Amino acid sequence: SIAGAKTVSPDLPYPSSKILNVAHRGASGHAPEHTIPSYELGRKMKADYIEIDLQMTKDGHLIAMHDETVDRTTNGSGYVKELTLAEIKKLDAGSWFNEKYPQYANPAYVGLKVPTLEEVIRKFGAGANYYIETKAPEVYPGMEEKLIEILDRYKLTRTNGRSGKVIIQSFSEESLKKVHELNPHIPLVQLLWYETPGIATISDGEIKEIKRYAVGVGPNFDKINRAYVQKVRRAGLQIHPYTVNEKADMKRLLEWGVTGMFSNFPDRLHEVIKEY
Ligand code: G3P
Ligand code: CA
Repeated sequence: SIAGAKTVSPDLPYPSSKILNVAHRGASGHAPEHTIPSYELGRKMKADYIEIDLQMTKDGHLIAMHDETVDRTTNGSGYVKELTLAEIKKLDAGSWFNEKYPQYANPAYVGLKVPTLEEVIRKFGAGANYYIETKAPEVYPGMEEKLIEILDRYKLTRTNGRSGKVIIQSFSEESLKKVHELNPHIPLVQLLWYETPGIATISDGEIKEIKRYAVGVGPNFDKINRAYVQKVRRAGLQIHPYTVNEKADMKRLLEWGVTGMFSNFPDRLHEVIKEY
């Protein structure tokens, strides 16, 4: 049971000194988020992980998409949970980007398809690392089971070597605890969102609870400070703030002791980490 779960320390895929560069929705500053070219660019730009947000279609397929609707990132409309994969596959997931970001526009992005999680894994295989988020898990019963089934099938959850190829993250504590019950070896990161004015704090109690199932936290970067980062680190947790796109912010966070970060510009982050 969850109450009986032990504090985990799964073999992490990186030495504790390695700063993780996570390509947020792929290199989504340069290419349409959650498309194969965006993930490819992330890898080319030396990201350690490609980040994949998950939604689930009406017919139960896990797809790479941030929003619960297809409206913003395709030419279609409607809730993912009310559309079949076949319907979603008809949509153009690239043209919106060319219109919104003409300075990064590329004719190759026109007509890109929304990928399924399996297509992403088949494309990049065991050579890549995946930082996967269960989005809106309360809307998609069975999402965690499906995710673990796919990861198992592609041998991405094997302990001793391969387990760290995947990190699973969520804002939902319940979803992470479910994953932890299904497979206690997968490193988990609890996402946190602070929106009230001022600096965020995290209590000893919160840290203790998170340590029962997760190896780290992922807060929004703009509300934390050195004390926050160091408290989390001293407790033995990783900290991967999101979404950090400016080099000055990256440098400050590294200076404070973060162990990785999410960026739409993994190329910038790579440069900053190299110089650090
Ligand atoms: O997963 C880290 C960060 O991506 C969380 O925010 O809304 O971009 O998924 P969001
Ligand atoms: Ca995310």
